[in-house]
Amino acid sequence: MLFSSRCLLAPTLLSLFLAESTVADQAKSRAQTALSTLQDWYNSTSGLWDTCGWWNGANCMTTIADLAALDPSAMETATYVFNNTLIRAPASNPHPGPETKANNKRMALWGRSNAVNASQWLDSAYDDDGWWALAWIAAYDVTKKPAYLQLAEGIFSALTSAWGTQCGGGIPWNPTDKYVNAITNELFLSTAAHLANRVPSRKANYTTWAKREWDWFAAQGFIGDNGTINDGLLDNCKNNGDTVWSYNQGVVLGGLVELNKAAPNHTYLESAHHIAKAAIKTLADSNGVIHDSCESDNCAPDATQFKGIFMRNLVKLHKASPDDVYKRIIESSAKSIWENDRNSKNQLSVNWAGPFHQPVDASSHSSALDALVAAAAL
Ligand SMILES: *[C@@H]1O[C@H](CO)[C@@H](O)[C@H](O)[C@H]1NC(C)=O
Ligand SMILES: *[C@@H]1O[C@H](CO)[C@@H](O)[C@H](O)[C@H]1NC(C)=O
Ligand SMILES: *[C@@H]1O[C@H](CO)[C@@H](O)[C@H](O)[C@H]1NC(C)=O
Ligand SMILES: *[C@@H]1O[C@H](CO)[C@@H](O)[C@H](O)[C@H]1NC(C)=O
Ligand SMILES: *[C@@H]1O[C@H](CO)[C@@H](O)[C@H](O)[C@H]1NC(C)=O
Ligand SMILES: *[C@@H]1O[C@H](CO)[C@@H](O)[C@H](O)[C@H]1NC(C)=O
Repeated sequence: MLFSSRCLLAPTLLSLFLAESTVADQAKSRAQTALSTLQDWYNSTSGLWDTCGWWNGANCMTTIADLAALDPSAMETATYVFNNTLIRAPASNPHPGPETKANNKRMALWGRSNAVNASQWLDSAYDDDGWWALAWIAAYDVTKKPAYLQLAEGIFSALTSAWGTQCGGGIPWNPTDKYVNAITNELFLSTAAHLANRVPSRKANYTTWAKREWDWFAAQGFIGDNGTINDGLLDNCKNNGDTVWSYNQGVVLGGLVELNKAAPNHTYLESAHHIAKAAIKTLADSNGVIHDSCESDNCAPDATQFKGIFMRNLVKLHKASPDDVYKRIIESSAKSIWENDRNSKNQLSVNWAGPFHQPVDASSHSSALDALVAAAAL
């Protein structure tokens, strides 16, 4: 009896192991297919993706970089995009910003072979600037090209000149609007913390900025009673109770994971878990698929990309501090996207539970690709 039960155990473990690797491998092969679809929208002249906007381009690029980090077969597309976008995209900057007035020596940075000029990536919306900083950091992570990191440093340097709001610290949404929102400050946190782990000579400086942002953010009331993060603050600096967007529950997770790496403190990951769990309670359906509240109206033009940003950062938290709940959410969302939210051209639309419906564009598609990449990384 003992013998036969042992015999039974071995194949069970083997099939469990196979099941695990198959799920990630299947997600990887689906992500490869979805990457090729995404590139149908890539415009080599503009260096951006037709059908979506300037800041969405930064997120398309980040998704591609994240896939290349775990799948060498995506590397050729990724390096082509980084190189071409670096040269071409600045001409499409919709609104080169007044923050270029804050231009200074630190912002005219030069790479080893490529000249990089961070001012060209600023567009008068500090959140947009932050997306590009993170995109160039993701490109640096897979290529180790110093120019990409220097570009991110230059963008961050411009953002620091916006520090200080009517609520004390933090940065406002843009140079002409005093609205203080969560995303802009989460991007500031995440960029500072990423740079702290990548630029040894300025580690202390970037760590100080990341801590300063997080301490202010956590004390300021962006985080609601149940642990989710609302859109922003009222003029009196209290939580405005506005929409719990998925991306606001995401960027902060990546920021805290990086900050914890730069300056370990158990409270950072505890806070990240608290936010992630609250977000899942609020945003996941009974099948474990993530939603934003705008889906019945298509979420256009911007919010079509939000959920992928949540998944990208949730998997970072899962890697740093695993939790089966995160794994289930990532797997369920990725599986549902492929089975329920895809058309015959392998385009992916905004409601991950399905059914597929128009409009589909590079924004909704890249967001779903983020979920596939997250599942491939598990
Ligand atoms: C590609 O980008 C260029 C430059 O911005 C633009 O003129 C052209 O219309 C774009 N192509 C398509 C198909 O949208
Ligand atoms: C980068 O892009 C430019 C312009 O499109 C091209 O001339 C150059 O050969 C590319 N370099 C690499 C390394 O791909
Ligand atoms: C950098 O770009 C900005 C904005 O396009 C421009 O005003 C400035 O002259 C550029 N600086 C350099 C050194 O090329
Ligand atoms: C970071 O470095 C910049 C430029 O050297 C300096 O102006 C700033 O005061 C430093 N900030 C912190 C928080 O150390
Ligand atoms: C860890 O972070 C918390 C919250 O920011 C802070 O109160 C505490 O002093 C930090 N602990 C250490 C050892 O730095
Ligand atoms: C948490 O609070 C937000 C409002 O700030 C609300 O939209 C959300 O439904 C709440 N989540 C849960 C699980 O109650």
